[in-house]
Amino acid sequence: MATSKNFLAMAMFMALLVMAMSNVIHFGSKIDSNWYDAHATFYGDMKGGETMQGACGYGNLFEQGYGLETAALSTELFNDGLTCGACYEIMCVNDPQWCIPNAGTIKITATNFCPPNYSKPHDNWCNPPQKHFDLSMPMFVKLAYYKAGIIPVRYRRVFCSKHGGVKFQIKGNPYWIQVLLFNVGGAGDVNAVKIKGSKTGWLQMKKSWGQNWLTGTNLVGQSLSFQVTVSDGKTVQFNNAAPANWQFGQTFDGKINF
Ligand SMILES: *[C@@H]1O[C@H](CO)[C@@H](O)[C@H](O)[C@H]1NC(C)=O
Repeated sequence: MATSKNFLAMAMFMALLVMAMSNVIHFGSKIDSNWYDAHATFYGDMKGGETMQGACGYGNLFEQGYGLETAALSTELFNDGLTCGACYEIMCVNDPQWCIPNAGTIKITATNFCPPNYSKPHDNWCNPPQKHFDLSMPMFVKLAYYKAGIIPVRYRRVFCSKHGGVKFQIKGNPYWIQVLLFNVGGAGDVNAVKIKGSKTGWLQMKKSWGQNWLTGTNLVGQSLSFQVTVSDGKTVQFNNAAPANWQFGQTFDGKINF
């Protein structure tokens, strides 16, 4: 009797230990790096006008490290903003008239949403279920002649290579702290975030919009740590990314990346 009780206690202890460890260590599945067919257009101008801000919650794309190498994704690919930050390799295919010969491939980060338009009878490229990349103009003209307007492309997911650490921009107010994550490497698209004040345990954050994540716990005056999980399941922990005297509007460098 006593033995089976001990065994039960031991089994429960082991289960809890595994659960506790799994908060920190996730063994990532791979991102799907198969090539798929889609189409691409462009928006904005050669200087990236109109591509700033947008539905992922990012701001000045130059300051945030994305530059002009960006695209807006159709509903099918955008996944309600969870795909924001993902990186893609894209080539122009099967269009001898418009594809630039030997143009090779471009790599972009998803930074915006290409909205559907259901009242448009044609050229509604961003409506579901179509896979579509609305590229920044400088990226589009690397693949095809500007006059093409729209081109068939092939694309695949690639790992994001970013300089420096993951960045955390703290916004909102003491009752709703909103954190924008950007410059995320690896799979790139953040799918879950936990936050921890120096006086709290780990708190699951709620996705607000794009890559803005929310907590309703007041953490003013506490240093902030984060556990960030990207779409391939890899989790990285950022200890004391923001010091106790952080202010709303400030951005902090997590120092490390995926
Ligand atoms: C949607 O398409 C219609 C018809 O072409 C157009 O009049 C309208 O401005 C479009 N809406 C948006 C939000 O672009």
